[in-house]
Amino acid sequence: MVSSDNEIQNWLFSHSLEKIALYKTYLINYLSVMCNQDYWKKIYIWEPFAGSGEYDNGEGSPIEAARVIHDFSPQHPNKRIRLFVNELDREKLESLNRILEDKGFSDFVKTEQGRAENFLKNSLLETVKHGSSHNFIFIDPYGYTQISPELLEQVLRLSNCDYLLFFPTYNMYRARKKNNSPSAKLLLDLGADKKDLENLSSQKAFVGEIKNRLMCKSKADYVFEYKLQDRRPGVTNNSFHLFFITRNLRGVEKFIEAKRTVDLNEASQFQLVREHDTKVAVKNIIQGEAEIDNKKLCELCLISGHLKSEVRAALKKLERNNEIEVIDPKDERRQGGYYLGLDKPKVKLLFRLAPQD
Ligand SMILES: C[S@@+](CC[C@H](N)C(=O)[O-])C[C@H]1O[C@@H](n2cnc3c(N)ncnc32)[C@H](O)[C@@H]1O
Repeated sequence: MVSSDNEIQNWLFSHSLEKIALYKTYLINYLSVMCNQDYWKKIYIWEPFAGSGEYDNGEGSPIEAARVIHDFSPQHPNKRIRLFVNELDREKLESLNRILEDKGFSDFVKTEQGRAENFLKNSLLETVKHGSSHNFIFIDPYGYTQISPELLEQVLRLSNCDYLLFFPTYNMYRARKKNNSPSAKLLLDLGADKKDLENLSSQKAFVGEIKNRLMCKSKADYVFEYKLQDRRPGVTNNSFHLFFITRNLRGVEKFIEAKRTVDLNEASQFQLVREHDTKVAVKNIIQGEAEIDNKKLCELCLISGHLKSEVRAALKKLERNNEIEVIDPKDERRQGGYYLGLDKPKVKLLFRLAPQD
């Protein structure tokens, strides 16, 4: 495995604080959606690599997740929200159990000690097989820990599941050519070709390959990668990536909202790298089609990382500058309305690029 100073110092570095903040914020958004849908009665969160729960400067991801569940559950008594965690190191698990007990979170958290592989096979897959649960899995190893390619595929193919994976990609990229390096192993387990792997000549290409492989293995429509970049000027050799996988556009929306919330913390040493300018993205999407309706435009913008409030502001500018035309086939539009959303819009509009002379 790729080692980390975290383990030695029991200290959460800035990138870990950022990672936990995003996990927690997405979890809040995810539970808000799930708890307001009648269909899902069981909502399960899974952490195969849980850690000790406590660091010298903060709390670990399982404690943050348990607190979110603790805050949600009383308002949704008809939902069964549970956290399942696993940790290999006995002492860390004991520490985690102690904290969960002290905080009164033990009733809705089930902990296990052992290898992530066994936890995924015997607990996750068995539980998911027997019930109609919606699931969210947070995979946060140091580097990559061997999970058999077959199991990896089974886990990534679960239909009712969102995933967040965290990898120290800079270190992984540098170690990719070493014999048995965890990063090479991850890509091979995800089905990459050994030759292709050797030809990856930049960290960006390496990350792109992880993303492509995750897409192929999971067969999920939406796989996003987010770079956690050190904000300090000139520091380029210190980056990490989060990969988010979902089959649901609503999940995409909630994740981008979480990302925006976390991005606002300017005090953090790390930032999640922002997407391109929304106006440019919206114009490119409109340009790519002869005509595009408001629902499709909203979907494509979301997939490229832009929320509807941001798309609305961009459309306003583009229309004001006469860069686009907004067609209102049934003459139902109120002034300035764009009717953006993932559901069928009240008023259907069409957008196209304005002819330029
Ligand atoms: C990066 S830490 C998890 C940190 C945690 N997500 C947090 O934010 O507090 C990874 C953990 O995985 C554990 N671990 C390493 N190999 C494992 C394996 N094969 N199965 C289960 N846990 C493992 C390590 O002991 C370590 O505590």
